[in-house]
Amino acid sequence: MKFFVDTAEIKDIRDLYETGLLDGVTTNPSLVAKSGRNFKEVIKEICSIVPGPVSAEVAATDYEGMIAEGRTLAKIADNVVVKVPLTIDGLRATKTFSKEGIKINVTLCFSPNQALLAAKVGATYISPFIGRLDDINLDGMQLIRDIRQIYDNYAFTTEILAASIRSANHVTEAALAGADVATIPPAVIYKLADHPLTKSGLEQFVKDWKATGQSIL
Ligand code: E4P
Repeated sequence: MKFFVDTAEIKDIRDLYETGLLDGVTTNPSLVAKSGRNFKEVIKEICSIVPGPVSAEVAATDYEGMIAEGRTLAKIADNVVVKVPLTIDGLRATKTFSKEGIKINVTLCFSPNQALLAAKVGATYISPFIGRLDDINLDGMQLIRDIRQIYDNYAFTTEILAASIRSANHVTEAALAGADVATIPPAVIYKLADHPLTKSGLEQFVKDWKATGQSIL
């Protein structure tokens, strides 16, 4: 499973990239607003840190606007993936971009039918939002399972990018459900490494090693 980090914070991206765990980055207008940075500048900087896919979302909601903005974003760096909303205009823009060789992340997916449409028009990634479905008492993870089955039934190559991940459990469940990618907030990525038995076991090893009085170097 590939890991993308869901943030526009440069320090978090740099730190995580150094761990070797990061395959890409996703941003959205809310995350860019939170960063306080100029959109195109921050996308350029992220692309210079992470060589993998970096999703940058269009602001327009009409086809012509999405095409103009998407082409502009795609020129920022070779690894930009243009993110468009799952609307009829967004799907039409996806079809156009896929013919032009521009990679597309179709976002705000909340149903299997929406995911089917995105695959039909050649989306590179489909982003089902797990947490936001859970928030309204629906089963976000079932959506991942349903999309996996539909894509496998027809050998669609669109990658399932599990989004709106809120917990370490979400990551485990998305991996079990066959998501190709998870886009995860920085704090949740670090939590994946945590285990109380690892912590207590390491404390004991450090203590016992000190008692030997030895040094490896
Ligand atoms: C990623 O592409 C999405 O924009 C993001 O995961 C949304 O997460 P949220 O529901 O926690 O805002």
